[in-house]
Amino acid sequence: MRISIDYTNMLAPACGPHGVTEEELRAEFGRGSEAIRTLRAKRDQIRWRDLPYNQDEIVEKILAAANDVRERAESFVVLGIGGSALGPIAVQQALNHPRWNELPKAKRNGPRLYVEDNVDPERMAALFDVIDPETTVFNVITKSGSTSETMAQLLTVMRTLIDLYGEEHLKDRLIATTDREKGNLIGIAKKYGLTTFYVPEGVGGRFSEMCPVGLLPAAVCGIDIKEMLKGAAQMDALCDNDNIEENPALMYALLETIAMKKGANVGVLMPYADSLKYFADWYAQLWAESLGKKKDGLRFGQTPVKALGVTDQHSQVQLYTDGPFDKTVTFLGVEKYRTEFMIPHAVDENPNVAFLSGHTFNELISAERKATAHAVTVSGHMNKTILLPEVNANTIGQLMMLFELATAYAGELLGINAYDQPGVEEGKNMTYALLGKKGYEAKLEEMKDSAERKLV
Ligand code: PA5
Repeated sequence: MRISIDYTNMLAPACGPHGVTEEELRAEFGRGSEAIRTLRAKRDQIRWRDLPYNQDEIVEKILAAANDVRERAESFVVLGIGGSALGPIAVQQALNHPRWNELPKAKRNGPRLYVEDNVDPERMAALFDVIDPETTVFNVITKSGSTSETMAQLLTVMRTLIDLYGEEHLKDRLIATTDREKGNLIGIAKKYGLTTFYVPEGVGGRFSEMCPVGLLPAAVCGIDIKEMLKGAAQMDALCDNDNIEENPALMYALLETIAMKKGANVGVLMPYADSLKYFADWYAQLWAESLGKKKDGLRFGQTPVKALGVTDQHSQVQLYTDGPFDKTVTFLGVEKYRTEFMIPHAVDENPNVAFLSGHTFNELISAERKATAHAVTVSGHMNKTILLPEVNANTIGQLMMLFELATAYAGELLGINAYDQPGVEEGKNMTYALLGKKGYEAKLEEMKDSAERKLV
């Protein structure tokens, strides 16, 4: 089962003068071929690309740990943020029941999953209103082992567990996922004898879904992680193709980077499936944090916007049709939803409503996706459609690898480093300074110097 990309509507013959011309596309093919070679040469720096192939042993360990959690836990709580949270959220929403946590235990193939990716005090406190620590296993995930948000959550959870059960029992209730050597979490994990999984070297946060960061929460919730990795491997092989027109990630990257040069500095991702709603959040981080860079006095990137079909047809699509030519829209469609749901007959006497009866919700959502793509195209805006035959572990693996590689190729084509995040680090350092971490006194002085202008 292959996912496909239809990019007809990115091109000028379909969407008009604001589209990419055949000449513009072909002119970039040389740079595209160079990007293929560069990514191949960088393979040992971008180890996330090897994750589908080199984890047999670790996958067995993950499955064993997951089975243990599944046997004894009612809730599984992930503490993490950014790349340590968005993948687990996206995959759970994509592959499990849309109302998983609300399902009765007998209908749920695993514990409830909570991914705590914020430090809003109200949300942190509220977690303890819905979980019972007695039947909860926590998984703290931080590659750097030092992110303030995750550490604050960890301190909260450790205090609670130590007070309730004593230090010696932390290891039964807390699993760590972090770097093998760097950061503070590894020391804590060793001290308390926690089961620990490692984020492999060369795997950045936003590229880490296919390692223990994403695989453990997925396996705990009964997701077929081997199939996910298989899908990722299939896509990786496709995206290594020297024939650019058969290399989906490179084609995606070429079209988007050309569009950026033509002023499309917004990239909307609009899935037509609630199951893929949080995939758009995952994409937003990947695309923004990887490509939003400055180099040699120039600034790069494309602002990702997440939308949901059909919901946002009644919110944002007016802008996508009649607004400025500053964006591309990527629709995510699903050929076969996991449920078929009829629209019944109820008011056959009213033909203005009755025309819907006898169709399915499946037909309605697909018709609306096609209709919106058409409206966006005839209004002159570039758009493309990625179609998933079904949403399953294999196609999600494919989709994630497609976007990771499209991001990597876009980074090469823009000539920037897609794997660092100096802006994010700066924010982290400022937070340390404001909260009095030792060694950050100079940063605090910097902040004091900035003048304030306030209203009201
Ligand atoms: O992609 C990234 O590198 C970041 O978004 C990180 O995932 C995020 O800042 C959290 O970092 P860490 O996993 O080190 O706590």
